[in-house]
Amino acid sequence: MVARGLRSRAFVCLPAAVRDALGGQLAASLEAAGVPWDTIAIRDGDGEKTLEQAGELIDGLAALGAERDAVAVAVGGGVTGDLVGFVASVYMRGLRLVQVPTTLLAQVDASIGGKTGVNTGGAKNLIGSFHAPVLVLSDPAVLRGLPRREIANGMAEVVKTALLGSAAFFAWLERELAGGREAAGASPALGRIEFLERCIAECAAIKAAIVERDPFEAGERRVLNLGHTVGHALETAGRYADWTHGEAVAVGMMAALHVAVGRGRATPACLDATRRVLRGCGLSTSVPAVDEGALRAALSLDKKRRAGRLHFVLPVAPGAVDIVDDVTEAELLAALQGESG
Ligand SMILES: NC(=O)c1ccc[n+]([C@@H]2O[C@H](COP(=O)([O-])OP(=O)(O)OC[C@H]3O[C@@H](n4cnc5c(N)ncnc54)[C@H](O)[C@@H]3O)[C@@H](O)[C@H]2O)c1
Repeated sequence: MVARGLRSRAFVCLPAAVRDALGGQLAASLEAAGVPWDTIAIRDGDGEKTLEQAGELIDGLAALGAERDAVAVAVGGGVTGDLVGFVASVYMRGLRLVQVPTTLLAQVDASIGGKTGVNTGGAKNLIGSFHAPVLVLSDPAVLRGLPRREIANGMAEVVKTALLGSAAFFAWLERELAGGREAAGASPALGRIEFLERCIAECAAIKAAIVERDPFEAGERRVLNLGHTVGHALETAGRYADWTHGEAVAVGMMAALHVAVGRGRATPACLDATRRVLRGCGLSTSVPAVDEGALRAALSLDKKRRAGRLHFVLPVAPGAVDIVDDVTEAELLAALQGESG
């Protein structure tokens, strides 16, 4: 932080699980850097990413005397980053924000691009802002304590980013995760720090380049929604209980590829390669029985949110996507059938 000129008081906001795992290390590095700092405990979980907690955090900052030149430091997963980022964007009309993401999902996706938000009632991220961090510090070593399912959750976004952004990165993932492996299931590569480090660096570079060209999601940034239309619908139809976000996005990507292959826009080889890579991440691509009515309702809700048009990201080949607006619900449901069983 000091190397970036961030010498003023730091307000380190973090949940208990992260404090337990990384608190000592964090305190030592802030002490060593001579940065004055306070910590603020936050409650964890998507259900706590609320305006209520944002208000408490704002009161906490005020009680500790945080001024305009303070630096808000979010240390945790995407929930922490979104919540603290939102508070940093509004407290005294904006504090500088440092993101220290500690889940793979947050390192490869949530901490990059400046989107912040809190949930309300039933709607996710309904309130939010764009507030770019002045610094993102990602250390793959902090991922060591995370369960496999959390790593797989982040890997879905890694595969998405490779598929939409870089043929070379996708080919490397294919070699690392799927190349020549007989055994089904998660690849041992996921346990290697060097593997995760390259995933984080590649994803940050690809996402940052897209966001720099389109910071407010007026156009190109929408490609980052690859797999998310069907993914969100599955999460909503399953009431979020059955799926991690990454598991839903993995199936959503496969559905998008089935649509693309059906339209002659992508090859079956691309679809098969993506399936192998996702399985190498420990992600299932098959669709369990989902209530079709609930899925239809979730898909049409998505369409309403986007002014009647379902902008759909169609993978064409590794590193290339199209955005189309004529994909029908029937086509999507058939695409899911293509991956069922
Ligand atoms: N802003 C964006 O662009 C963006 C993009 C994608 C997702 N998101 C948001 O990210 C959130 C999901 O993030 P997530 O998957 O990181 O979940 P999370 O923030 O809930 O973290 C998962 C769990 O892991 C714990 N944890 C975090 N780091 C740890 C560590 N190193 N060791 C041990 N435990 C640790 C957390 O305390 C939490 O209990 C959602 O709210 C989603 O909306 C935002």
